[in-house]
Amino acid sequence: MTKRVAILISGGGSNMVALARSMQGDHPARPVLVLSNDPEAGGLAKARALSIPTFAVDHRPFGKDRAAFEGALQSALGTARPDIICLAGFMRILTPDFTAGWDGRMLNIHPSLLPKYKGLHTHARALAAGDAEHGCTVHEVTAALDDGPILGQARIKVQPDDTPGTLAARLLPLEHQLYPAVLRRFASGDRTPVML
Ligand code: GAR
Repeated sequence: MTKRVAILISGGGSNMVALARSMQGDHPARPVLVLSNDPEAGGLAKARALSIPTFAVDHRPFGKDRAAFEGALQSALGTARPDIICLAGFMRILTPDFTAGWDGRMLNIHPSLLPKYKGLHTHARALAAGDAEHGCTVHEVTAALDDGPILGQARIKVQPDDTPGTLAARLLPLEHQLYPAVLRRFASGDRTPVML
């Protein structure tokens, strides 16, 4: 049975586009919803251009009431009935109550070689640490931030003149290869990590 995939974004949505474009032909999944916490997220227009239904739940009116915000996310997801959720540049922290409901069915891409550099500013932190290698990780989402079983990683060499910006720019095309490769495998029931 074809798997239904919802993609959650906060920004430009380039990983969302890579995922959506990959779900064609004999791919075991199809995109059913692109959901954002920001009604102005650039990725929403890109999703509409790909004929994918979109919805936004603006987090700001909810203030500190994460439960209410997540309740609104859940009701949008309830209508779309996804089998798999892909976080793709979704920049809100989800509570354990929310993640528990999607245990084993929610993926995230993070711009570091996890378990290194959970959280923000990953490129700057890799440079500050003098790392020879940097990369990105796709993992299953669990209650702990940027944790959970690793489903794939892609690596780049750090160059002497790299900045956070050059690292991010070199890594993004690899993210666009890695995430679709992991999703294809995951949607077919295979959790063997993809290593690029
Ligand atoms: C990507 O680099 C992704 O790895 C990162 O945000 C960017 C989103 O770009 N995600 C995180 O930092 C999650 N903590 P996109 O909107 O163009 O896909």
